Formats: sequence, C-alpha cells, structure tokens
Amino acid sequence: MLKSRVAEQFYELYSNDPILIKAPGRINIIGEHTDYNDGFVFPAAIDKYIVFAIAPNGSSRQCRLHALDMQESFEFDLTDFQPLNKKWPNYLMGVVSELQLLGKKIQGFDCVFSGNIPIGGGLSSSAALECGLAYGLNVLFDLNISKLQLTRLTQRAEHHFTGVKCGIMDQFASMMGKVEHAIKLDCRSLEYSYFKLNLGEYELLLCDSNVKHSLASSAYNTRRLECDTGVAILKKHYPEITSLRDVTLDMLKAEREAFSEVIFKRCQFVVDENQRVVEIGKALENNDLQAVGRLLFEGHKGLRELYEVSCKELDFLVELAQKGTYILGARMMGGGFGGCTINLIHRSKVAYFRDHAQRQYEFRFGKKLSTFKVVCSDGVKMIRL
Ligand code: GLA
Repeated sequence: MLKSRVAEQFYELYSNDPILIKAPGRINIIGEHTDYNDGFVFPAAIDKYIVFAIAPNGSSRQCRLHALDMQESFEFDLTDFQPLNKKWPNYLMGVVSELQLLGKKIQGFDCVFSGNIPIGGGLSSSAALECGLAYGLNVLFDLNISKLQLTRLTQRAEHHFTGVKCGIMDQFASMMGKVEHAIKLDCRSLEYSYFKLNLGEYELLLCDSNVKHSLASSAYNTRRLECDTGVAILKKHYPEITSLRDVTLDMLKAEREAFSEVIFKRCQFVVDENQRVVEIGKALENNDLQAVGRLLFEGHKGLRELYEVSCKELDFLVELAQKGTYILGARMMGGGFGGCTINLIHRSKVAYFRDHAQRQYEFRFGKKLSTFKVVCSDGVKMIRL
C-alpha cells in the first residue's frame, strides 16, 4: 500500500516517525481556462493522490526531500534556495518560499512522497504536490493557516517557482475536495458549493492519451495574455469590466471589428464556457445527464476550435466517444495539449469501450491508451498507517 511504502522508506532514510498526508489530484467536470478569467469551474478531488511522510529533523535550516517513485533525493537550505531546472523540487521549495514570505517560521524537515496520479496527465499532480506539503508543514509547525489561505499560497508557489501563471482551480480542488461531491467554484469571490454527483447508471472514465503536456513551455501563459488583450479591447467601451467574467456574447459581438480573429475566438470560448458551467450545475440539479453530456461535447468543440488547446489524440478519443450512444458526453480535460479525456459512460459499457478505444488508439497512433475510473474524494488530509 502506498502509505506504508512511504512510511517505511521514510524510516529507512531518516529513522524518525513522520506524520502522513494524503493529497489528491483532480478532475474538472467543466469550466476550462475560466479560472484565471475570474469565472466558474466545476472540479472535484479524486481517488488518485500523493502520500507524504514529513517530520522535523532537528536542524534549523536543512531540508531533505525524497521522491520515491523517481528514486531521487534533493536537499536545500532554508536560508538560501531558488528555483532550479529540476521540476519536482520547485513545487516543494515554492511552497516553503511562500510560507516564509508570509513570515511563518519553518525549521528543517525531511519529506518522502510517492503517488499514483499520472504525471503530465492533466490531473494536477503538481497541485497535489504543493497542497500536500503546504498542509503538512502547517500541521507540523503549528502555522495556523486556513485551508483557503493555503490554497492561495500554493497557487502563488506555482507562479513564482515554476513560472506557470495557473488559475486557482487545481489547488482549490486538491485542498477543498469532498467525497462524492464536485465543487462549483466562483474563482472571483472563491464562493463555492458542493454538488453531490448522482450519476445513476453512469460513471466517469478517464482516457489518458499519454501525450505529456508541459504547461510552462506550452501556450498556457500565452492564452492568459490573449484573454487580457481581449479585456483591454473591451475596456475601451465598457470601462467597468475587469475580466472576461464580466463579458457577454452580445458585448463581444458588438465590438467584433476591434478584435483580431484569434483574440475574438479566445474570448468567445471563455464567455461560452462560463455559461456552460452555470448550465451544468442546473442540469445536475435536475438529474438531466443527457444535458450534462451535451455540454461536455460542446465544451470540447470550443476547446478544439476556439481556444485551440486540444491535439489530434484528444480529438480522436472524443470522436470515438461520440460514436457510442452509451457515452453521454466527453471532452479533453485540464490545460490541454495532451493528458486525459473525461467520459460520462454507461456502467455496463466501460469494459467494452476500454478495449475498443485501446485498440483503435494504438492502431492509429502507435501509443498506449491508459483508462481508469475515478470517483470524487476528500481534499488534502492527514492519514494514519
Ligand atoms: C491548468 C491550470 C488551471 C486551469 C486549467 C485549465 O490545470 O493549472 O488553473 O487554468 O489548466 O482549465
């Protein structure tokens, strides 16, 4: 079991008793690229997670980290560290740096972690890394920081130590998730409500394209800038707006001439996608799974044609899903350019679709397709052996 492996390794390396923290990855039902536009999202924490073993080591400055899955260790000094080329330590050092910026006193600590969230699969393994450590250090050093503050802090860690100007969705879901529920979150006010996911005969199946995306080097930050450009254009006529959250399709259309084609498409997507989040909330309340599915397919179309963050592998998987009447909806999920599709599929057809999609995918791309079912889980928490 993951937690016992992590605890054993910790003891072997550091001969000490740690606390154990479990930090989940996330799915997103809908609301992609809306978070950094002050809009709405509909994520959930899932039963794929990272387990951390952490304990103070008696030193005032030395921190020792061990990534069990990669068999890699890393040390840093609390009084002198900065972002490196190496990815995983950056997520963790970023968190420490943000805690220090808040004036919180951290002592030297040791940490071992291991997880089962596919890396680069669009399931926010990076947010889980950040949230798990932040939560653990908060407990360990009695820092008295609320979960909501930790959420913001981990987002800043990602901005400052990895250069990805991510929104708040991933960290929020990993931190605040609730078993059997998805979260409808207003990314402007951070007001949120839990929605019990009653999917009846249907389940959520993820298809991992095994196309690894890298948000930092990809067009993620560019998309953000394009949205800002759209806001700047609209502001000339609507000075009251501060983000695409405030924009309607009519406003956009009225100013069509002022936009380049690309910026117009980006803005249109965000405006539509915000609307889809609102509609999916209503559809779930009404137990209208057909409508939920339709919105997923529509969301994918927008991501592909307007926001242009899909790729041929993800499009292929969604098209495959569209052919089976037993799948009500499917779309690419997360930042894009790779990772997973999310499929709302009839329980009785999961095994069939899995085989079918794997064969077709491998035939078409010569690549393996991994599939797995997910359920909604609790956010970051302490666990026992
Ligand atoms: C990544 C980011 C999130 C969000 C999604 C797209 O996962 O970390 O903040 O913008 O992409 O919805």
